[in-house]
Amino acid sequence: MDIQTLFSLDGKVALVTGGATGIGRMAAEALVRAGATVLIASRKGEACEVVAAELNELGASGKAIGFAGDVGTEAGVDALVASVKEHTVTLDILMNNAGITWGAPLGDFPFKAWSKVMDVNVAGLFDLTQKLLPMLKASATVDDPARVVNVGSVMGEREMGDGAYSYAASKAAVIHLSKIMAKELAGNAITVNALAPGPFVSRMTAFATHDEDMRSKVGDDVPLKRVGRDEDIGGCMLFLCGRGGAYITGAVIPVSGGINVMSGPNIFEQALH
Ligand SMILES: NC(=O)c1ccc[n+]([C@@H]2O[C@H](COP(=O)([O-])OP(=O)(O)OC[C@H]3O[C@@H](n4cnc5c(N)ncnc54)[C@H](OP(=O)(O)O)[C@@H]3O)[C@@H](O)[C@H]2O)c1
Repeated sequence: MDIQTLFSLDGKVALVTGGATGIGRMAAEALVRAGATVLIASRKGEACEVVAAELNELGASGKAIGFAGDVGTEAGVDALVASVKEHTVTLDILMNNAGITWGAPLGDFPFKAWSKVMDVNVAGLFDLTQKLLPMLKASATVDDPARVVNVGSVMGEREMGDGAYSYAASKAAVIHLSKIMAKELAGNAITVNALAPGPFVSRMTAFATHDEDMRSKVGDDVPLKRVGRDEDIGGCMLFLCGRGGAYITGAVIPVSGGINVMSGPNIFEQALH
């Protein structure tokens, strides 16, 4: 076993949706540092170009290319697939990371907050994956499968609404779809796994993580006592996309500091004290 190259992605081509900010950017940096060519796409094409330029300044062995791409509509997905094909003929790694949320109290949750969130988080993720399958299949081999990593959430694993009802349900759908796709695509040497992150600092969570005091309060409620870091996402990506992930599909990686195993109080404890 060659430990030096266990996490190398030299020569691989990856697409990270929503890769200019938050978790997507953390993943994109790890992939670039591991040697991959990383395509970064989201609605704000300019932001993707700026981040790609920043990643290209790292002096890493990989490189990044940023451009616009919208996974919220069918036309957007089609245009994104066309742009991907302009930049590469092969695709080894697809990270479906783009996502949006909507928060409102029960009783006031708007009807339209369902289609908006489900279109991006579920329909877009699914449609982009199915339309990139020919490229993924072309680069996949039994010894080195193509990799799809879908970003779910611990809110899709555990019953936590937090006012984000359509979001939590969309993330449960992402996790379930990932398992269905893992089953159907294993025969094509494509692995499909999901991340189920807990709290990470990002644009989406800025309302509760924008300063150190807030981050520390959010971290206090996490069993492992902190919010997530770049390395937590980077480590998952290099594991799932490197040689170590070649035999793993249908997994949900609980990168949530233990929130995934939080449950109610011990049943008999109160009675004994
Ligand atoms: N941060 C957390 O605590 C946490 C926890 C669990 C799961 N997640 C998941 O992690 C993923 C990344 O979120 P984040 O927390 O890093 O928040 P973020 O910084 O807001 O990132 C979301 C990204 O998605 C892109 N995006 C949104 N709508 C899009 C569309 N229609 N087409 C293409 N790209 C689109 C955004 O870029 P544009 O605005 O340029 O389109 C942005 O780069 C999401 O799926 C989120 O649900 C986050």
